[in-house]
Amino acid sequence: MENLRNKYIQAIDIAGDENALEAVRLAALGKKGEVSLKMRELGQMSPEERQVAGPALNDLKNEIISAISAKKEALEDSVLNERLKSEWLDVTLPSRERPAGTIHPISQVTEEVISIFANMDFSVAEGPRVETDWYNFDALNIPSHHPARAEMDTFYMYRSENDDRAPHVLRTHTSPVQIRTMENTGAPVRVICPGGVYRADYDQTHTPMFHQVEGLAIDQSLSMANLKWVLEEFVKTYFEVNDVELRFRASHFPFTEPSAEVDIRCSWDNGQLKVGEGDDWLEILGSGMVHPKVLQAGGIDPNLWQGFAFGMGIDRIAMLKYGVPDLRAFFDSDLRWLRHYGFTALDQPNLHAGLSR
Ligand code: PHE
Repeated sequence: MENLRNKYIQAIDIAGDENALEAVRLAALGKKGEVSLKMRELGQMSPEERQVAGPALNDLKNEIISAISAKKEALEDSVLNERLKSEWLDVTLPSRERPAGTIHPISQVTEEVISIFANMDFSVAEGPRVETDWYNFDALNIPSHHPARAEMDTFYMYRSENDDRAPHVLRTHTSPVQIRTMENTGAPVRVICPGGVYRADYDQTHTPMFHQVEGLAIDQSLSMANLKWVLEEFVKTYFEVNDVELRFRASHFPFTEPSAEVDIRCSWDNGQLKVGEGDDWLEILGSGMVHPKVLQAGGIDPNLWQGFAFGMGIDRIAMLKYGVPDLRAFFDSDLRWLRHYGFTALDQPNLHAGLSR
């Protein structure tokens, strides 16, 4: 008994880490451990022998258990001490200077747009950027072989070879959020849907990812007149001018009928844009009355409800307002550019304090 005791207490003492300690515990107290086997022998002893050996073995077992847990604590302490020694920090050193972050113009303009429409009681709706074919096209009255599908330069997300379900798409516009909103809330509707969209295109005025804001209003008697008023209010507030002239040009979108593209009167003086005066027209958005088939796809009865929708390029109106000549710069992450065109975090746009000051 004494030999066993010495053997294991010493082994525990010299165990260098938790694995070694666990090996000692198994050797002594595991199912086939030496102490466990001795305890099993108690059954073959005479009652007198057992009365002496039983308590002694039990004491030995308890002694080993508490020696192991004491050692375990000591090992943990030494690991902590090692870390404290190697990870110390000199808090008296001066801090390193870091570049101050700025709010990206696109985030800023998105907030501006939201606050203008919030003032007209529009709320914000969002949808996924990875869409199904159905939400991005079919539900918007763009069937499989419609030319608009090809014109959109769609990025398809192909499935594995033996999977013949239609591929997902990176949404090519924010219009699928129209359908999702109709499904979620039913009529009436008054939302804008800002967010990233994707088309395979790249030059000074196109990047494969850009941003749009969709507008959708559905009620019992909304007309193009309401659309025109809402857009005029928006443009005046956004460009911070008292008078704007909008020009509605007949156009075509599968999801609106009638459809119109909207231009604003402007002038370009030495490359400087002025909104509201001059002899030029600048196209800023597509719009129209929501097509009955689109209402139907969204689960809204076109005999009871009607409304208007529009889609506008956020990056485009950001370029115009803040004089950014090349769209691609928005996504280059060039710190010098970001510092020049970025906004401070305290410039939260709201209508009474001024949008862009
Ligand atoms: N989705 C159209 C586009 O991306 C814009 C649009 C939206 C037109 C809503 C009409 C109505 O070009």
